[in-house]
Amino acid sequence: MKKIQMVDLQSQYYKIKSEVDNAILNVLNTAAFINGPEVKSFQSELETYLDVKHVIPCANGTDALQISLMALNLQEGDEVITSDFTFAATVEVIHLLKLKSVLVDVDYDTFTIDTEKLKAAITPKTKAIIPVHLFGQCSNMEEVLKIAKEHNLAVIEDNAQAIGSEFTFSDGTVKKSGTMGIMGTTSFFPSKNLGCYGDGGAIFTNDDELAHKIRGIVNHGMYERYYHDEVGVNSRLDSIQATVLRKKLTLLDTYNEARRKAADYYDEAFADCKDILIPTRAENSSHVFHQYTLRILNGKRNELQQFLTEKEIPAMIYYPVALRKQKAYFQESNDADFVNTDKLLEQVISLPMHTELDDEQLKYISDAVLEFMNK
Ligand SMILES: Cc1ncc(COP(=O)(O)O)c(C=O)c1O
Repeated sequence: MKKIQMVDLQSQYYKIKSEVDNAILNVLNTAAFINGPEVKSFQSELETYLDVKHVIPCANGTDALQISLMALNLQEGDEVITSDFTFAATVEVIHLLKLKSVLVDVDYDTFTIDTEKLKAAITPKTKAIIPVHLFGQCSNMEEVLKIAKEHNLAVIEDNAQAIGSEFTFSDGTVKKSGTMGIMGTTSFFPSKNLGCYGDGGAIFTNDDELAHKIRGIVNHGMYERYYHDEVGVNSRLDSIQATVLRKKLTLLDTYNEARRKAADYYDEAFADCKDILIPTRAENSSHVFHQYTLRILNGKRNELQQFLTEKEIPAMIYYPVALRKQKAYFQESNDADFVNTDKLLEQVISLPMHTELDDEQLKYISDAVLEFMNK
């Protein structure tokens, strides 16, 4: 059996090696390393895939979030609401810009922002909401957008973990994750569903004015060469990463299907285990399984992780600490308002999930989980 990894990027690379190698060599030969034609082509191919007017590539998913917030011209102390249960980057950028993060609980089943708690957290200083499409499926965007409209708030979707998933609104409209808010962001970190071979990210928007503003911000606030109209940053996707992403974008749906197939296998294996809750697939969002995350109900999650490690099966705890309790972002809070987050911190465990898992590996992993749970 092939060695089991959380993410097997090497096997994935070998399947597309000759095409990717040639594409990279082509970039080297043309020496158009920055803002070359590969970046432009990737940008427009991703616009087509997402059915969004503007994709603005940048250096990583954290920059993408920071730049989107910068584009909103918020004032120091303005409040931005996001979930307490997400990767730190989402809240880090809020603090970097001297805005105030307001963290709220998530829904126990989908791990995405609890829209009732979101509503309750709105104050006159609230300016934006960042719903995080955690682990591969969309937040309840119908509700989030409704709340945002009622209170005139900007919505920036953190789509680092769910590219390719789709949300179906009650009127039947279907939209790709990241294209429903005023802006959406993503990360092309290698392990992401659409990952490059280094760092990369992008911002999506259908708003022409915002797109123009963002194109300036990513380039030192320049709209005309050497004229700096505002304080910007230097955040670029390079041509080598863009050429890799062009190839991988053509495979994104196939990759997401492979992840879903692996998830189906796990789901079936664990369906009858009373102490395991398998991931909930929300009715109105497709799931692209960036992570396959179980909830372990017998209180032995850490022992399970240890047992799997002994069998050479990696398993990760995403995430072990609530953001509101992290040293950097500590806020006084009432734990009673964060019941779901606090339960999830104790229960979640993510199993290996990637495009290259075969049945032999899936069987070995699920047998090991069940062996422990049935002990
Ligand atoms: C939810 C979420 N937001 C933002 C990011 C930041 O992306 P990057 O690592 O490309 O800066 C990540 C990456 O792990 C993420 O998972």
